[in-house]
Amino acid sequence: MAVLMVLILLGVAIAAWACKGFVIFCLEVAVSTAAGKRGKRNPWLESNYAPVRQELLEADLPVEGTLPAALDGAYVRNGPNPLHQPIGGHHWFDGDGMLHAVRIKDGKAAYSNAYVQTSKYKQEKKAGRPLFFTLGAMEGVSGVLIYMLQQLKEKLGVVHTKEGDGPANTSVVFHNKQLLALVETDLPQVVRVNNDAHIETLERQTYGGQLRSPFTAHPKIDPKTGELHGIGYSFSKPWMHYYVIGSGGTLKLDIDIELPAPVMMHDFAITEDYAVFLDFPLTINQEGLIKGKPLVRFDEGRASRFGVLPKSSEVPEKIRWFEMPAMFAFHVANAWQEGNSIRLFACMYTEGFDFANVAAGKDRSLPRMVEVRLDLDSGKATSRIVSEVHCEFPTIPDSLVGRKTKYTYVVMYEIVDGEERPHGLAKIDLTASSPAAAATISFGRSRSGGEAVFIPSSTNPAELKGEDDGYLATYVYDKASDSSDFVVYDARSFSPEPVARVKLPQRVPHGFHGKHINVAQFQAQFPFDIHFLPDI
Ligand SMILES: [Fe+2]
Repeated sequence: MAVLMVLILLGVAIAAWACKGFVIFCLEVAVSTAAGKRGKRNPWLESNYAPVRQELLEADLPVEGTLPAALDGAYVRNGPNPLHQPIGGHHWFDGDGMLHAVRIKDGKAAYSNAYVQTSKYKQEKKAGRPLFFTLGAMEGVSGVLIYMLQQLKEKLGVVHTKEGDGPANTSVVFHNKQLLALVETDLPQVVRVNNDAHIETLERQTYGGQLRSPFTAHPKIDPKTGELHGIGYSFSKPWMHYYVIGSGGTLKLDIDIELPAPVMMHDFAITEDYAVFLDFPLTINQEGLIKGKPLVRFDEGRASRFGVLPKSSEVPEKIRWFEMPAMFAFHVANAWQEGNSIRLFACMYTEGFDFANVAAGKDRSLPRMVEVRLDLDSGKATSRIVSEVHCEFPTIPDSLVGRKTKYTYVVMYEIVDGEERPHGLAKIDLTASSPAAAATISFGRSRSGGEAVFIPSSTNPAELKGEDDGYLATYVYDKASDSSDFVVYDARSFSPEPVARVKLPQRVPHGFHGKHINVAQFQAQFPFDIHFLPDI
């Protein structure tokens, strides 16, 4: 009898070990259900935030108008597209990265979309269910339990994080002949768009294994040096790093930046001589989970700080901090030096910020374009509202990063039936001395769009008639027809009539940031001449 009992217990133990992943999954379901996060309506999974299920490749798309020759190459945009239905809490930032590309050549267009093949994506695809914890679940005691179960999964080998655990869902950058898909919780993924528009993931970019933290989704490429400047933040001290990667892809600088508390730092700025860090009070508070608070929260009682560090500095002690009242910006439009000041422009939340509900139709304090001026002589910081337009996703020409810029192009937001709608584009004059009336473009009735990437009309600066001589490219979603177009506007005339509109074979969910790679950059992705490969 005793032998039989031992055998039964042994069998149960072996079965539990063999099914440990499933057992933990059941525990996660139980915790999420008890916390009321399972089966709950989630705005991040509805309407055009909902994921698409097909990875398509389709050529000879219908084009209205004319695709300018300057667009030859490819437009690629990143955004979250959860592979599986989340177990419980889910935030817009949690979805797996999906790239949507329009390959353009000689006025013709082809579309493709594909997941970035991250380690997380591959493991979850194989398992057939979510394996990694989500930001949306990180609230209250249930968040603590979900986090602990995640640790257990790592310990038991249910998930592997050696090759990272990020979704690579935020942005796309082209540096050192590589197209990179980025998220601030992990390292870059090298991806490539082929002649026929097919998208592939090549490898995880570790820069020789030298990066000591995740890498920002908003690095800045200095137009003069070709250097890639980036930041990285993490849950462990020193909480932030500043990196400089040379034009040839070698890590040149890695500095610890001391902060009073861990913060979510989505963006930063460079000027010709300085890097500017944004220490906003959007804090990461692990202890707060126990008290029922979210992991990431805005602390209105804390000041905002702007840290200015010479780009040439190899020691963090040379950083100077400028204080301002509590404010927050996801995105910087640009910054530059003028006299002995730094002028920094960002889509700024100045009246509080609700991280959990941003863009979910609940945050009523929409950001506006604000200038923060840092006086390097007096050490004082001042601010002013540049435009009353409710804006996000500012863009400028790549050639003007860190240099004086007259215009930035932003997505305009409005509240309709309790939901935020990105209803058009605005061209804001940053140099206007009083709140400027911006030129605007409406996407059209029932339509909403995203970040508009600036594409110069020529790669030869001598041929440009001004900094706004170029085009703006974006995806526009039409709720009435549940379909999306690739739309190109003239940045100079800012005419609401598109230069070109390409009908896409499926809708493109709302996403984050994109990039246009021109003909030379497109070819540079490959170590061989692609001229003879099949094209669109
Ligand atoms: Fe961003």
